[in-house]
Amino acid sequence: MTGEKLLYIETFGCQMNVSDSEKVAALLKSEGYAPTADSSAADLIIVNTCSVREKAEHKVYSYLGRFRGLKRERRFLLGVGGCVAQQEGERLLKRVPWLDLVFGTHNLHLLPEMVRAAEQGERRAAVDFIDNETRLDLFPRADEAGGATRFVTVMQGCDNFCSYCIVPYVRGREISRRSAEIVEEIRNAVAAGVREVTLLGQNVNSYGLKTPGELTFAGLLREISAIDGLERIRFTTSHPKDISPDLIACFAELPKLCAHIHLPAQAGSDIILERMNRGYSRQEYLAKVAALKAARPGIQITGDIIVGFPGETEDDFLQTLSLMEEVRYTDIFSFAYSPRPETAAAAFAGRVARKETQERLDRVQELQRDMTIERHAGFVGTCQAVLVEGMSKRGDQLYGRTDGNLIVNFAGDPALIGSLVDVRITRGYPNSLLGELTTVQ
Ligand code: 5AD
Ligand code: SF4
Repeated sequence: MTGEKLLYIETFGCQMNVSDSEKVAALLKSEGYAPTADSSAADLIIVNTCSVREKAEHKVYSYLGRFRGLKRERRFLLGVGGCVAQQEGERLLKRVPWLDLVFGTHNLHLLPEMVRAAEQGERRAAVDFIDNETRLDLFPRADEAGGATRFVTVMQGCDNFCSYCIVPYVRGREISRRSAEIVEEIRNAVAAGVREVTLLGQNVNSYGLKTPGELTFAGLLREISAIDGLERIRFTTSHPKDISPDLIACFAELPKLCAHIHLPAQAGSDIILERMNRGYSRQEYLAKVAALKAARPGIQITGDIIVGFPGETEDDFLQTLSLMEEVRYTDIFSFAYSPRPETAAAAFAGRVARKETQERLDRVQELQRDMTIERHAGFVGTCQAVLVEGMSKRGDQLYGRTDGNLIVNFAGDPALIGSLVDVRITRGYPNSLLGELTTVQ
């Protein structure tokens, strides 16, 4: 092939960024850029960034740093998108002089034009928020062959303004895609071989609430569930305050809805939850967890925990540990509080010392490790339906996920990738399960 240009994308952060990167790749394909896994061969390198914690942001700057010398050695274009791009805008062009373009979270649609300008030596930043449905990040992903699982964006942005969180500032206000368009995207995906979808949004539970006449999230789940050939539905992320009884009922009613929910509590103390502006109390959170467990016995619950939030006392922290034990999470992501620009909590008094925060993080992780190991051990001897996603990193085994979203490794023919198989669990590890194939469904 002559004249084909190569595109390398590096993605940091959450699944929304992964999904945006897929859209960037599809969009730039029509500009003549083919994907490559080798950054040293790329004509265009796009870095999709995350700024949810300071550490993530630092990682971006050190990653960009490595291209400084390379830019002198060979010609290629370097672009930055995602949340750091949105937060910094023009400042990023000044701070990183070897950067060619900056596009914010609502500006994916401008990329072709920006890349053409960059090819002519023009440096641009585009970070305007667009709160209507012309935003490309809300559009369906171009249908390409491959993969049994697919992320489908149903809404973006967040109106909650939790006091620690930068998301509302870098992703903008909540906006939902039209349900008809979502259903059509999933129908097409199923026709192309997809068997499981994960519905994506910063706060999927408030899907449709701002759009007159639109379905609720529970209504959307019911419509999607009726699609023939689709086997599994997942969604992320849920805000506990917006989980309705109707949504909880979906777990009892819809067999395709997987037995897993990511339901971040963030903290276990009412005082801290209030200061975080989470909109629920410890008791309300636990009542929703109990209702979910009643609706779908065996549901796997995962969550997020922040330690060292301003003003967090040892007593507050102990309430986080006890909440974790009451819920008995399958697994959690745990974070040391990180002050973020523009957020309310960045100005709160009562900063917890770094050493104290780290110590609390260690205690949270130790407790969770024990609970996860115990949970995994409980699966040994059971038979699980596993959707085979690919070859494990070591390359000698297949891997896939159970209904409850646990990763299982097992020996098998790569031809099984994309199908649902029965696997007997033989061992539990801290991060995954080991199993053996029984029958192919
Ligand atoms: N500091 C630490 N953790 C944070 N998160 C979001 N903002 C912060 C912050 N400023 C965590 C929350 C959220 C997850 C995606 O990241 O737990 O659920
Ligand atoms: Fe951030 Fe809270 Fe919105 Fe989640 S719900 S994105 S934590 S502001």
